[in-house]
Amino acid sequence: MKETMRRLTSILVLLTAVMTVQAEDTPLIGNVLNRQTTSLNGDWRYLVDVQECGYYGYRREKLSYGFFRNAKPQQPEDLIEYDFDKAETMPIPSDWNTRDQRLFFYEGTVWFHRSFNYQPKAGHRTLLYFGAVNYEAIVFVNGQEAGRHVGGFTPFNYNVTNLLKAGENFVTVKVDNKRSRENVPTLIFDWWNYGGITRDVLLVDVPQTYIGNYSLQLDRRNPKQLNFSLQLSAKEANRQVTLSIPELKIRQMLTTDANGHVSTSLKVRKLQLWSPEVPKRYGVSLTLGPTDSDASDMVSDSIGFRTIETRGKQLLLNGQPIFLRGISIHEEKPNGGGRANGPEDAHTLLSWAKELGCNFVRLAHYPHNEYMVREAERMGLMVWSEIPVYWTIAWTDDDTFANASRQLNAMIRRDQNRCNVIIWSIANETPHGKERDTFLSRLSRQAHDTDSTRLVSMAMEVLAASNYHNKLQDNMNEYVDVISFNQYIGWYRDVKDAAKMTWEIPYDKPVIVSEFGGGAKYGLHGAKNQRWTEEFQENLYRENTAMLDKIDGLAGTTPWILKDFRSPRRLLTGVQDYYNRKGLFSDQGQKKKAFYVLKEWYEGKK
Ligand code: GCU
Repeated sequence: MKETMRRLTSILVLLTAVMTVQAEDTPLIGNVLNRQTTSLNGDWRYLVDVQECGYYGYRREKLSYGFFRNAKPQQPEDLIEYDFDKAETMPIPSDWNTRDQRLFFYEGTVWFHRSFNYQPKAGHRTLLYFGAVNYEAIVFVNGQEAGRHVGGFTPFNYNVTNLLKAGENFVTVKVDNKRSRENVPTLIFDWWNYGGITRDVLLVDVPQTYIGNYSLQLDRRNPKQLNFSLQLSAKEANRQVTLSIPELKIRQMLTTDANGHVSTSLKVRKLQLWSPEVPKRYGVSLTLGPTDSDASDMVSDSIGFRTIETRGKQLLLNGQPIFLRGISIHEEKPNGGGRANGPEDAHTLLSWAKELGCNFVRLAHYPHNEYMVREAERMGLMVWSEIPVYWTIAWTDDDTFANASRQLNAMIRRDQNRCNVIIWSIANETPHGKERDTFLSRLSRQAHDTDSTRLVSMAMEVLAASNYHNKLQDNMNEYVDVISFNQYIGWYRDVKDAAKMTWEIPYDKPVIVSEFGGGAKYGLHGAKNQRWTEEFQENLYRENTAMLDKIDGLAGTTPWILKDFRSPRRLLTGVQDYYNRKGLFSDQGQKKKAFYVLKEWYEGKK
């Protein structure tokens, strides 16, 4: 035993010496889908490590020779108790809950590993990009830690240039989706805690200095002015950046300041504004370098332009009052369960919303994948995008705030050029209180400071009526541009009283009812007062839509929800079976009777 331990330690010291080069935590690269990338999607090996023994020793000390080393026995007597090459595989991106039946309820650590051949370009950098990993990811490249990320729904990337070598490489990710009080979201939430590498994994090849991120949007109040800013990956002055929008005959040369930053405003005349009816986007290209031909970096994008603002209780798109015919959506595959990812899933879910007559979708309760947002932009659907500050977060915990703030920043930085995103939501159904108000008002300020072209909101609550009178009161009213609230008359309360209800929203801002609805098991029929029948849900929608028409300043609604979705909080056997059944579509995409009630109501809102 002593001899083996001595030999093992010497192997590992050797390994550690060779491998102590560092990776850099790098600001999120913008518009990764239009960069030079190598996809690492595909089959990855995985090991379920309930006690994290691939990372911690039996004294819970961190191991320097954990599974991330991908060690192989060198001598016959060598003791290595894992072998990724023999492990099962899982297609990435996906969630382990629906890919491996044994892991349906699993919350804990799973190791993912894959090798790949890569030829880094001389003088270039390589970023390793993840669209999202739920919840905590510790990323290793060739046995060396590249970085660690928490938060299951936002992208992150590391500069791994120094960790890669020409030829065979491997990446290993320790993923852990255990819930905890301090997390965002916190311990309890009404959706499935899908674990895994749930979105694309990409190697991004960029020059030494590259176009980091940029924003090109119409000024919120001036439809004749485009605001453009761009940040290089390095603080390099006097670098030439060219913005081209050929269709608008725009070709603007700009020079970076000492921080590698440029910004400018451009007057535009004949601009086709983006709208649900005409989701017009313009081809845009950005080059770094004196001319296009010897540009060191180039990014192209298709960007739409619109203004979104409020005037009293009115919501104005391109200066015209608009009613948001919306629906709430969870990021779950159209059929059955599992995390949705990719353009096909997005197109199917959004086509269902279109069938309903929607021009707006609330992507709940966390930033959905980029394909969803881009497909909605292409299909003419406006978007409400939200961070999972959901229910009772640890308001006084600094790390919790830093985490929420990082997620907000990543959400905005990824989608800041998607003109269909009109609302950033900073929270859902959070309890009144001083600590909560402080936490959320800081997030609201951050959202406004980071992006002046969009509106900020959050889903408040109206939990009870006194004498059938519902009054919304929330200190956060002054920190949001649109007043949104969830109400469940007909389901969680006042089942028979919708018609008697009156509403008072004492704030001179547009109102969105961000949730209402009730459950029904598809195919279950009966009297309209019989819970879980389609007739009960149908009636609830009839009564609620009539009631909502009485709300002064109602500028839109996003009923809960497009499709039945998996939830660990829904255990009624034979009815819920771990599905929240408030969908207008079943989990298999079948329309329930209430679908037609909402479709008809939206017809009247066109
Ligand atoms: C809440 C919450 C949703 C939840 C819904 C429900 O309002 O925001 O996440 O799924 O109610 O109870 O069905």
